[in-house]
Amino acid sequence: MRFSSSAAAAAGLLLTALPTASSLRTWQPIRELQKQIQDGIYHESTLSTRDTPAYPVYNLSVPVDHFHNDSRYAPHVNDTFPLRYWFDASAYQPGGPVILLAAGETNGTNRLPFLEKGIAARLARATNGIAVILEHRYYGESFPYNNLTTETLRFLHTDQAMADTAYFATHVVFPGLEGVDLTPNAGAPWIVYGGSYAGAFAAFLRVLYPNVFWGAISSSGVTVAIYDYWQYNEAQRLFGPQECVKTTQTLLHAADQILLAGRQTGDEDVYGDDDDAAAAADDDDIYEENPVDQIPLVGDRSAATDRVAQLKTVFGLGNITHDDDFASVLSDALGGWQETNWDPAENNPDFGYYCANVTAKTSLYPYLKDRRHTVRSLLKATSYREDVDALEQPFLNFIGWVQATHTCNTTEKTQDQCFTNRNATFFEQDDITQHWRAWSYQYCTQWGYLATGSGVPQDQLPLVSRLLDLDYLSIICRNAFGITTPPDVESVNKLGGFDISYPRLAIIDGEADPWRAATPHALGVPGADRPSTVDEPFLLIPGAVHHWDEYGLLENETTAELPPQTIRDAQANEVDFVTQWVADWNGQNLGDDDGRV
Ligand SMILES: *[C@@H]1O[C@H](CO)[C@@H](O)[C@H](O)[C@H]1NC(C)=O
Ligand SMILES: *[C@@H]1O[C@H](CO)[C@@H](O)[C@H](O)[C@H]1NC(C)=O
Ligand SMILES: *[C@@H]1O[C@H](CO)[C@@H](O)[C@H](O)[C@H]1NC(C)=O
Ligand SMILES: *[C@@H]1O[C@H](CO)[C@@H](O)[C@H](O)[C@H]1NC(C)=O
Ligand SMILES: *[C@@H]1O[C@H](CO)[C@@H](O)[C@H](O)[C@H]1NC(C)=O
Ligand SMILES: *[C@@H]1O[C@H](CO)[C@@H](O)[C@H](O)[C@H]1NC(C)=O
Ligand SMILES: *[C@@H]1O[C@H](CO)[C@@H](O)[C@H](O)[C@H]1NC(C)=O
Ligand SMILES: *[C@@H]1O[C@H](CO)[C@@H](O)[C@H](O)[C@H]1NC(C)=O
Ligand SMILES: *[C@@H]1O[C@H](CO)[C@@H](O)[C@H](O)[C@H]1NC(C)=O
Ligand SMILES: *[C@@H]1O[C@H](CO)[C@@H](O)[C@H](O)[C@H]1NC(C)=O
Repeated sequence: MRFSSSAAAAAGLLLTALPTASSLRTWQPIRELQKQIQDGIYHESTLSTRDTPAYPVYNLSVPVDHFHNDSRYAPHVNDTFPLRYWFDASAYQPGGPVILLAAGETNGTNRLPFLEKGIAARLARATNGIAVILEHRYYGESFPYNNLTTETLRFLHTDQAMADTAYFATHVVFPGLEGVDLTPNAGAPWIVYGGSYAGAFAAFLRVLYPNVFWGAISSSGVTVAIYDYWQYNEAQRLFGPQECVKTTQTLLHAADQILLAGRQTGDEDVYGDDDDAAAAADDDDIYEENPVDQIPLVGDRSAATDRVAQLKTVFGLGNITHDDDFASVLSDALGGWQETNWDPAENNPDFGYYCANVTAKTSLYPYLKDRRHTVRSLLKATSYREDVDALEQPFLNFIGWVQATHTCNTTEKTQDQCFTNRNATFFEQDDITQHWRAWSYQYCTQWGYLATGSGVPQDQLPLVSRLLDLDYLSIICRNAFGITTPPDVESVNKLGGFDISYPRLAIIDGEADPWRAATPHALGVPGADRPSTVDEPFLLIPGAVHHWDEYGLLENETTAELPPQTIRDAQANEVDFVTQWVADWNGQNLGDDDGRV
């Protein structure tokens, strides 16, 4: 059977044309990183299909190195580079604030819809303010140098980027507003908003630069850096459609049993040093003691190895050399959850497609019917031997889904070239087009967020393969940057972590956000039920995923159902407290005629 039927290939093409939200990523496979390479073959298809509103782009020259006192950045430089920004002053009236939206780890143009109709527009109009989008260094076109070598990346540190933002606030003169004093706190209150990584960024700006930023809104702000972020998939597990979740857990558990048994052949813990273990094949008592991660001992060692090959082959992926590379393909399934959105135009439907595939009661891929015997025999070699009849259909549809969404043109490439994440040659590329290097460098050095399966507690079934462990997911750190030690998460967490709080710092999170576990609203964290006040708003949006309050609609796009009431409520709340903060600033500055226009 060929790897891709023409129907599957068509589905794959369709997928690449869908909008791709620019949201915070955990580790990503090379095949995804390739899409971020400028002028790369996939470049066009990763751009949102939605029109980007046209705002003129400006830049401010800022220092590359704000910390000549810190040896981390040696050798120091006095260079400057152009930091891009966009703004909309159409609602501005004297006394109004500057609403600065931090763009975070993406091309700033991806944030322009927030200037036109998202939260920045909403807050600016409500307060007669100026809305601004500021790009983050090393993203979009705000590059200090013309390459992304480890040497020049040394200035890519969140501390430096926050210093850029403070420098921007204290130095920018907006074209057309040259006569207006917008000096932070003296001329105007500056309120910084950020979603996701930029949300943590906004929170930290308020704490580190309280005299520059009068207030801050941290939406889905990941104020806690975590190396082994296995919790990434907890939101799907707890809030996702349960039939889909349970099926995924079962299918991956079955696959893991086969892969781990194969990996551990010869391992005494699994097979014992007694060759008679194989003779126990048909006994009931053939599992490891661990009740969840049972590794069945059906057949002998070479049978276990054969089953690994059969498993890959039944997915049409028999030529993938490394088991963890194969496991990473099976682990893509629920990743789309983060990109679900209440706005249909921003919503990535992949998650829904996946769930519809594995919970379908009928065969969606009739061409796979001659693989059912292999599927059944594989399942019989796992702890799911009693459930073979019930699992055959979901398993076959899962195979079909994997093939439809992971096409590989084998006349051009080997399967390893399509799917491996072990490729030092790829990782060594460091020219300016290798955009994937920026966020990877940030998580390898500071933030972590490797979403492993291995870290999931043993009494729980993961939604990704347990073969995804820290060692595998950190290959990129070693190969791309020569980094062999864990990231310095303390450099982030010392700024407050789960407990971060500050006057006029709002913490807003989504109940079902995969990043919630890295925010002050993380389940089980002591402060997660702190009261919400106007001074320190603390809001959890019911049912919401990733910084859903940041998105908005034009008036003529609004319907009875859209935006949903939960989003309307959150945004109205933000308007209320920001209006109060601005009024408080005006109160503080009454009589200070020099500072106002
Ligand atoms: C930055 O802005 C200046 C005008 O202030 C302009 O001359 C220059 O071309 C801009 N640089 C970039 C890289 O866009
Ligand atoms: C460098 O100076 C900044 C203040 O400008 C300070 O916050 C920081 O701690 C100093 N760093 C070191 C390594 O001394
Ligand atoms: C940067 O400027 C300072 C002050 O002018 C000077 O002392 C220092 O040598 C300069 N550093 C470099 C690397 O040029
Ligand atoms: C940023 O995105 C815009 C479209 O949204 C695109 O035209 C531009 O090439 C991108 N810039 C980079 C450096 O990728
Ligand atoms: C990268 O850019 C830096 C700064 O311009 C330069 O010194 C260095 O030689 C460049 N490295 C490569 C490999 O191009
Ligand atoms: C797998 O590798 C073999 C041997 O190189 C090759 O003949 C075959 O076409 C490959 N199959 C796929 C699906 O890539
Ligand atoms: C199955 O998944 C494919 C690929 O995502 C998708 O195109 C198709 O619509 C899905 N089928 C159903 C019934 O949702
Ligand atoms: C696969 O690659 C070959 C050679 O480049 C090309 O002719 C063919 O159209 C490709 N097939 C698909 C389905 O893209
Ligand atoms: C490794 O990456 C290089 C550069 O992208 C590519 O040419 C090569 O085919 C890749 N090899 C494998 C096995 O993926
Ligand atoms: C909605 O309003 C905007 C201006 O606010 C306009 O550009 C757009 O064409 C309108 N769309 C429709 C469908 O009327």
